[in-house]
Amino acid sequence: MTEYSSILVETRENVGLIRLNRPRAFNALNTELITELVDALQKFDQQDGVGAIVITGNDKVFAAGADIKEMAESTVVDRIKNDSIAILSKIRQVKKPIIAAISGWALGGGCELAMACDMIIASETAQFGQPEINLGVIPGAGGTQRLTRIVGKAIAMEMILNDRRLTAEEALQMGLINRVVPVEIYLEETLKMAQEIAVRAPIAVQFAKKAINQAYESSLSDGLEDERQAFYLLFGTEDQKEGMRAFSEKRPPKWQGK
Ligand code: CAA
Repeated sequence: MTEYSSILVETRENVGLIRLNRPRAFNALNTELITELVDALQKFDQQDGVGAIVITGNDKVFAAGADIKEMAESTVVDRIKNDSIAILSKIRQVKKPIIAAISGWALGGGCELAMACDMIIASETAQFGQPEINLGVIPGAGGTQRLTRIVGKAIAMEMILNDRRLTAEEALQMGLINRVVPVEIYLEETLKMAQEIAVRAPIAVQFAKKAINQAYESSLSDGLEDERQAFYLLFGTEDQKEGMRAFSEKRPPKWQGK
């Protein structure tokens, strides 16, 4: 397995686990961490036997945003050349489901990274915010777009213009996250959910993820059309035959990912 400096990577059964690991910088997302994270995601996406991926930080912080010290003296040209946000946006190309396990702060780019994942499980201590306005900038990795689509204009305005933070409970009520659990078990609960998804029919899981994410990108009629085509296409897989036969034969299906 590749050696990384800013993340820790392991597999837990059929799940790829990535831990952001710059604890002294509160897991600030510098270029190195972003590059490693995307590399690890792409490797897990290709790895047979891995059906889902979990990204986590530590109990105190998921990530406190983009690395302010790295970019403080940047010029426009530096930012355009570095373009680490474009690297981070490659997360959208990952086909396997990604679940964020969040405890403590998920701020700025940390909140944006969480929203780029497919699901979020949070500990009771999690706190979500887009505090970029305090630095004289705005969110740059999806905050104004994904957050607004999820929590609506009113709350997004408050969070981005006035640094309103959401508690885990508020984030749950607003549909930003899937579950709130005690801090002692947030990672185990996330791994459990990831493991459950990872043993399902892999191609159907990937098609489902793609179709749901497309709901944010296209018109309803285009989305419905593409969903229907994807549904028909799955009849070309052995897993569809196996799944439907197993139902009739009243036995659990054996998925092959074919
Ligand atoms: N970048 C770089 N270093 C950071 C950091 C960040 N985003 N967040 C925290 N750190 C560092 C601090 O500099 C400090 O390091 P030193 O001890 O070497 O000084 C260490 O992490 C601990 O931070 P604090 O001393 O500030 O700890 P705290 O408990 O008092 O506060 C915090 C914690 C509320 C998370 C606070 O650190 C904070 O507000 N961080 C910045 C959050 C932020 O503004 N994020 C947005 C970044 S911009 C962005 O993300 C743009 C984008 O959309 C892509």
